[in-house]
Amino acid sequence: MTNNSLQERSWWKEGIVYQIYPRSFKDTSGNGVGDLRGIIQKLDYIKSLGVTMVWLNPIYESPNDDNGYDISDYCAIMKEFGTMEDFDELLEGLHKRGMKFIMDVVVNHSSDEHEWFQQSRSSRDNSYRDYYHWWPAEKGKPNHRWSFFDENSDAWKYDEQTDSYYLHYFSQKQPDLNWENPKVRHEVYDIMKFWAEKGVDGFRLDAFQYVSKDITFPPFPEGYDVDVPSVIEYHGMGPHIHSYLKEMNEQVLSKYDVFAVSEGVGSTLQDAHDLVDEDREELQMAYHFEATDMVTTLEKCTLAQFKESFTKWDKSFAEKGWIAIYLSNHDQSRFINRYGSDKPAFKDYSAKLLNTFILSMRGTPYTYYGDELGMTNIGFTKIEQYKDIAAINGYKKAASDGEDLDHYLKKLNLLSRDNGRTPMQWDATKNAGFSNETPWLPVHKNHTTVNVLNQENDQNSVLNHFRKMVALRKDNLLLVYGEYEIIQEEHPTIYAYSRTLEDQKMLILLNFSELESSIELSNYDDSKEVLINNYSELSVDKNTITLKPYQAVVLKL
Ligand code: NOJ
Repeated sequence: MTNNSLQERSWWKEGIVYQIYPRSFKDTSGNGVGDLRGIIQKLDYIKSLGVTMVWLNPIYESPNDDNGYDISDYCAIMKEFGTMEDFDELLEGLHKRGMKFIMDVVVNHSSDEHEWFQQSRSSRDNSYRDYYHWWPAEKGKPNHRWSFFDENSDAWKYDEQTDSYYLHYFSQKQPDLNWENPKVRHEVYDIMKFWAEKGVDGFRLDAFQYVSKDITFPPFPEGYDVDVPSVIEYHGMGPHIHSYLKEMNEQVLSKYDVFAVSEGVGSTLQDAHDLVDEDREELQMAYHFEATDMVTTLEKCTLAQFKESFTKWDKSFAEKGWIAIYLSNHDQSRFINRYGSDKPAFKDYSAKLLNTFILSMRGTPYTYYGDELGMTNIGFTKIEQYKDIAAINGYKKAASDGEDLDHYLKKLNLLSRDNGRTPMQWDATKNAGFSNETPWLPVHKNHTTVNVLNQENDQNSVLNHFRKMVALRKDNLLLVYGEYEIIQEEHPTIYAYSRTLEDQKMLILLNFSELESSIELSNYDDSKEVLINNYSELSVDKNTITLKPYQAVVLKL
């Protein structure tokens, strides 16, 4: 292509990411937990999707308080998942098939079982003491800091051994590392180099916006309220984040052909730009939460909010910086339940529509395992069914705050992370072909119909629609770099936009509703080529296009 797009080309912009939650993909050892050999066994399947990059949630040694996001050894593989030899074979298998590998790097915190923390907590004068944030109890209780997973939301935990409090923004078993300490930072760079030398192609930096904080821990101002933007503002994006990232870039990222994506991007568009704009020489890609954070209550977001958010981010990143495009991951419930409909009549159509959306926007698309099949929420109704620390401790907190627990359970039923972590549905057998043993989290009962085997043979399946969309994106740089323009933004049910690159143009029409909806487009005629359609027909009458419920089409203009 003679590139007249506004952006420089690069492989990680043109790639398509497939995210695998290793615990739930394929168990070969027979313990009900997925493993690396399971992923190796499924490499041809992954390749058949057309995706070009694979991101695995953490696979390091971990006591699994937060399913691997609490790491006790950064250079070892979790025993449940396999061995380093398995990892090497997996990486080679991906590379042989032309796919890249993204490593999850969790360094805002470690596990409390990491050797560094064991040392650090052992005495006040231990040489690892300042690897973490400690507050001596004789100074009184430190000022409040919020914790995501603590059952009292209190990020300070008193530790008797040295009569001090330590900081944990996540669970009590995830103490925050002290990035002010250059030794900590260099440990992290060494870890990243260890994996880069092995040949990994990218890093996803977990919760990175929190590494830099005001370590004098002053009281919060009057009127401070715990909602997500202010949590970030008052707990993260501290004064040194950019100097840390420049150092990381200089020490690691610039030395290898790798990219890094930041999970979380601060609280403003400018924060996000400051992390990833090319001239800053920090990170390469921003993974923001705005669209997924819009559905945090039983009220789903409106189409108007959805359009506004994606349009705003696209506009801001049209010329500089680069974002990820996703609607679900291991921290959310299934996308059909949040943005589509799991009613039998609409489930498959809405899954295809959402995949069409992700794969036709500017930004690097991320697909979460199972979304290529249209997997849906498991929908637990009792707290005893949950495995996720966020759900379990959140429920305890709600109980101690006297909240309406029925309402809390309803919220979990729609939104809990366990909804998106159930075993991959390979076939219709008892455990969905995931394992011969009882899986660590139950398989969804709809695996008898929603599964890979069934969908492979059906040209119109959600799976094959996903493959068609992937192929279209790979054949058309327009879908990667082309200018995005929203059409009739005020339309109540249809999300319409065009993508343009040089003399090529595509029109994407997505009916986000359970009813037929029409849109009138001036100068439209029915000679346009239909590239993608999740129905067998498209109704066009002069300038009016009528879309069936959740109909998604891509037209060549
Ligand atoms: C963000 C990860 O995506 C989430 O799963 C994890 O619980 C927290 N960071 C803590 O590491």
